[in-house]
Amino acid sequence: MEIWNSRFKKTLNETALKFSSSIAIDGKLFAEDIEGSKAHVKMLMKQKIVSMNDGKSIIKALDKIFNEIASGELKFDWKKEDIHSLIEERLIEKIGEKGKRLHTARSRNDQVALDERLYMRKEITNLIRCVNVFQKSLLKKAEENKDTVIPGYTHLQRAQPILFAHHFLAYVSMLERDKERLSDSMKRVNISPLGAAALAGTTLNIDRNYSAKGLKMNGIIENSLDAVSDRDVVIEVISACSIIMMHLSRFSEEMILWSSQEFSFALIDDSYSTGSSLMPQKKNPDIAELIRGKVGRVYGALMGVLTIMKSLPLAYNRDMQEDKFHLIEAIDTTKDCLQQSAQLLAHTKFNKDRFKDELSGDLLLSTDIVDYLVNKNIPFREAHHIVGAVVAYCVSKKKKLNEITLEEYKTLSQKFDKNVFDLLTPMASIISKKSAGSTSPQDVKKQLLKWKKLLNQLKP
Ligand code: ARG
Repeated sequence: MEIWNSRFKKTLNETALKFSSSIAIDGKLFAEDIEGSKAHVKMLMKQKIVSMNDGKSIIKALDKIFNEIASGELKFDWKKEDIHSLIEERLIEKIGEKGKRLHTARSRNDQVALDERLYMRKEITNLIRCVNVFQKSLLKKAEENKDTVIPGYTHLQRAQPILFAHHFLAYVSMLERDKERLSDSMKRVNISPLGAAALAGTTLNIDRNYSAKGLKMNGIIENSLDAVSDRDVVIEVISACSIIMMHLSRFSEEMILWSSQEFSFALIDDSYSTGSSLMPQKKNPDIAELIRGKVGRVYGALMGVLTIMKSLPLAYNRDMQEDKFHLIEAIDTTKDCLQQSAQLLAHTKFNKDRFKDELSGDLLLSTDIVDYLVNKNIPFREAHHIVGAVVAYCVSKKKKLNEITLEEYKTLSQKFDKNVFDLLTPMASIISKKSAGSTSPQDVKKQLLKWKKLLNQLKP
C-alpha cells in the first residue's frame, strides 16, 4: 500500500514498482530527509498546525528511525517507492495517528528538493576539504622541489626550464579556484524550497522562513514553482566537480607520463602501482589511469542531469528523480579521486637530478638568448630571427647551445660576446626571470609562503 494509494483500485504493478523505486539511490539521503522532517514539524508546532504533544512524538520517533537506518536494522525495501515514503510509513507504523500529521503542508516535491540541497550543502564542505588535502600534498612536493629544475612544456615539446615547485603550485592555484566555485555555489544551494508544497504553495498558515532558519539555510526560494522544479544547483555542483576532475585528469596524465621509462622522472611506490598478469617486468600506474578514466563518470553525470532537465515543462516531473543517481555518483567519484590523487602523490618519489645535465645548453634556453639580444637593444623580432638561425645552426651541427664557439655565434650576430655562455644553464634562465608570478626562485618562494598560510587555515 502506497502513501498515495486510496484513489486507486489497484496497486502498482510489481515490475513497474521495481522500475520506479528510487530507494537504492535516495536511501543515501536518509539523514537529510529526517533533518528536513524535523525542521518541518517544528514549524508546524510553532504555527499550531500540529500540537506540541504530537510534534514531540513525531520528533522522537524520527530520531529512532534515524538510528534504525544508521544501524542497518531498518533495511531499504525496494517495494517502498522512495526514502520519503519509507520513513513516513515507518513513522506511522511506530506512532500511528500522530505520525500521519508530519506530511501536513508538504509534498514530496519540496521534500526531495530540500533533501538534495541539504545533501549538497554537506558534500560541498566535504569536497572543499578533500581539495584542500590534495593541495597540501602538492604543496609538500613543491617545497621538497624548490630547487629541482625540469623542462616546462608547451605542445609537449620542451619550451623553457622551470622550477618543479612552480609546476606543482600551478595545480594548487587551479584547485583553489575549484574550492571557490564550490563555496560560491553554496549561496544558491543553501536556500530552502520547503513549504512550496507540490507546486503552488499551501492554504495552511505555515512559516517557511522559520523552517529554513531551523535548518540554518539562508532564506527561502521565493517562487514555489521554481522551488520544486529546478535542478540548476545540482547541475552547478556537478559542473564544479567536472572541472575538478578535468584538473585531476591533467595531473594523473602527467604522473603517467613522468613514471614512464621515457621520462624516468617519477617513481611511484609499489603500494600505489600494479603489475601485469602477463609481463613480469611491468609496473603500471593504474591508480593514475583510473583517476583519468573516472572523469568519464563525472562528465557523464553532468550530461545526464542536463539532459534530464532539458525541455521539462514546469513544475515537477518524475524524470527528475533520476538526478540523484548522477549527483551522488559525481560527488562520490570526485571525493575518491581527490583522496587518491593526494595519496598517489605522497607515495611518489621524483628524481631531482633527472634533467640537470640534460638541460645545460639545451635548445630550450633559446628564449633567454633572445632576451639577451633584446637587452643589447636589438628589436625583439630581429633577435628572434637571429636566435632562430643559431638554433638551426646547432641542429645542423648536432650541438647544444653551449657547444658552439663565440666565433660561430658572431657569424650570426656581432652583438654576441662571451657572457652569452653565462646564460646557458637552466638555473641561470630561471633566476633571471623578473615578471611577477614567474618561475624565478623569489617568486616561487612567495607563492610557497602564501599557500602554506592559506591551506593551513582549513582543518582537514
Ligand atoms: N522519489 C521522487 C523523486 O526523487 C520524490 C518526489 C515524488 N513526487 C511525485 N510527485 N511522484 O523525485
